[in-house]
Formats: sequence, C-alpha cells, structure tokens
Amino acid sequence: MPTKSIYILAIESSCDDTSAAILLNNKVLSNVVANQKIHAAYGGVVPELASRAHQQNIVPVVQQALAQAGVDKSQLHAIAFTKGPGLMGSLLVGTSFAKSLAIALQIPLIGVNHMQAHVMAHFINDADQHMPEFPFLCLTISGGHTQILKITNPQSFKIIGETIDDAVGEAFDKSAKLMGLPYPGGPLIDKYAKLGNKHAFTFTAPKTENPLNFSFSGLKTAILYFLQKEQKKNPNFIEQNRNDICASIQHTIVQILFKRLELAVKKTGIKRMAIAGGVSANSAIRATLKNYENTLGWQTYIPKFEYTTDNAAMIGIVGYYKFLNQEFDLENTIATSRLDINM
Ligand code: KG4
Ligand code: ZN
Repeated sequence: MPTKSIYILAIESSCDDTSAAILLNNKVLSNVVANQKIHAAYGGVVPELASRAHQQNIVPVVQQALAQAGVDKSQLHAIAFTKGPGLMGSLLVGTSFAKSLAIALQIPLIGVNHMQAHVMAHFINDADQHMPEFPFLCLTISGGHTQILKITNPQSFKIIGETIDDAVGEAFDKSAKLMGLPYPGGPLIDKYAKLGNKHAFTFTAPKTENPLNFSFSGLKTAILYFLQKEQKKNPNFIEQNRNDICASIQHTIVQILFKRLELAVKKTGIKRMAIAGGVSANSAIRATLKNYENTLGWQTYIPKFEYTTDNAAMIGIVGYYKFLNQEFDLENTIATSRLDINM
C-alpha cells in the first residue's frame, strides 16, 4: 500500500450524464455532473444527442472538477474512465478524452467497468456512508441494469440474479410514460407515491424460471392494460388517481425486488446487503432495506445520494483500487458497449 497521496481524475460518460471527479486516495475532492436535459423532450435518451452533448460538456466539466478540487492537472497520478457498458457514442467521448489527456500528461490510464463502479461507490471514504465488509451482496438497479451480485473482494464480482428483459429503471420510466409523466419518470413516481395508497391497485408480478432473476416487461404490459381499461370507464382516471397509481406501481416493484433479495440471503447465507445504481435513490427501496435491519437482522449499506446516479466519483474509487494494484490500460484500449462484470 503506498503511503503517498494519489490524485486521480475520473471521467464518466456511459449514458446521458457527463461527469468528472478528482479523488485524493479514497476521498472525493470534487464530483461534477452535467445532466443532459435535452432527452426529456423525447421521452428517453437519444444516443446521437447524448454523444454530442458529451462533446460539448467534457472539457468544461473536467476543468470545473479540477478547479473545485484545487488540483492542477500536473498533480494527477492517473486518469480513470468508463470503458463500458453503455452507449457506444457516449463511451467514445470519455474514452478518447481520457486517452489523449493521459498520453499528454504521460500518466497511466485506467479503464473502469461502470457496473462495478456503482457497487464500489460504497468504498468512497465519506462521513455519510460506511463501507461493507466482504463478502456482501449488492442489488444494482439502474436505467439499464438489474443485478444481484455477490462481491467477495474488490476484484471478484459474481452475478447471482439479473433481469431477463427490462431493467428496474425502465420499469419505472416506462410506467411513468404510460401515465403521461416526463422522462426520467422514476423520481416522479417516487414523489407522487409518497402521497398515495400503495394498496389501492394490485398488479401481478411476473414470474421467472430462475427465482433469483427478474422480469419487468410483463409488469409494464399489465399496467398498460389496466390504465386502458380504467380510462375507458373514466377518461380522467389517471389525473384523478395519479398518487395511488404511483404508490401501487412502486409497491409492486419493491415487492418484486425484496422477494429476490430475501432468497439471495437464504441461498448464500450472507446477510450484508448493499444497494447501488440510480434507482437506489428511490425512497421506498431505501426505507424497506433499512427496515430489514430490524426485522431480519441484515446489515445494510445505502450509498450517499450523489453516488447513486451516474457520477465520476464512483469511477474514481475503482480507479484508485486498480492504481494500487498497478492495473493499467494500454494506449490502444477501446470502449466496449457490453462489458461483463463477472470475474
Ligand atoms: O444509474 P443511473 O443514473 O443511470 C443508468 O446507468 O441507467 O439510473 C437512472 C435510472 C432512471 O431509470 C431513473 O428513473 C431512475 O434511475 N431513478 C429512480 C429514482 N431516481 C432515479 N427511480 C425510482 N425512484 C427514484 N427516486
Ligand atoms: Zn449507471
């Protein structure tokens, strides 16, 4: 373990957020995120527009991260970047920028798996979160992924359950879209659900052959048919019942998730459970997990809000661990839209 101070610039550009962070060892000095508002008008992320926006944002975002941290680029020891998985056009912007800067500064380049980074965000040294002990399980839920992982050490991740169709974030966003809510609808469902009755309506949870896997496409169809049927009887059904519908959808999703988590704990005997990814910002998921500490004796790990949705600090913490192991990428490294997390 080196005792010296390691400064890492981290860059995240896998989807529709351009982010840069500066880490001093495992501490975050700055974590700048530029959201791309442009996609809201289209009801989802438009890949072509995302890569263009990354090109516009990347230089100012990196400059801002350096300025906020009070670090000059000559002090950097390495550059970490998201290598995949993600949208190819988006990944290419961050990858090309990271490569060029690393070559110019003659410092190592570290390619990071975005999904591993969501989990490793728990290892950022921050007063508002505590680090899990190994081994632990992690439910990683985002707009593109839904996985239950078993993490044995910082280098060993194994998927023990995953979605066979849509991700949880898509289930939230697509349900919201059916209700006429703008993209991304997940946070809005969370907001309206707080005001509604979660038992007002019931939606059947889709079954999966492997009981640790998830399926959400059937839920979306069930919600679509339900809304169509009710709107035939009452054209104002959605407006009049918005909070109850949101609360019921959210409750169904929470039940689907936690049924799998309980089984994962039973099968592995591991009672340490972390959550990660953009959807882990959801208040009902957070509250339900926290409650399992009292009811089932689990140890739970809920990341600080700013480290849940896509951000570069989480890329930086993986970069730091890889730096300690001297795991560097070569100058001919490439972005990969599909990148396996199992290792
Ligand atoms: O991890 P993330 O920022 O990006 C991806 O890698 O996909 O996750 C974005 C997803 C979106 O689907 C968004 O609707 C969802 O996270 N999300 C939420 C909440 N906040 C963000 N879903 C439900 N409740 C929330 N509070
Ligand atoms: Zn993500």
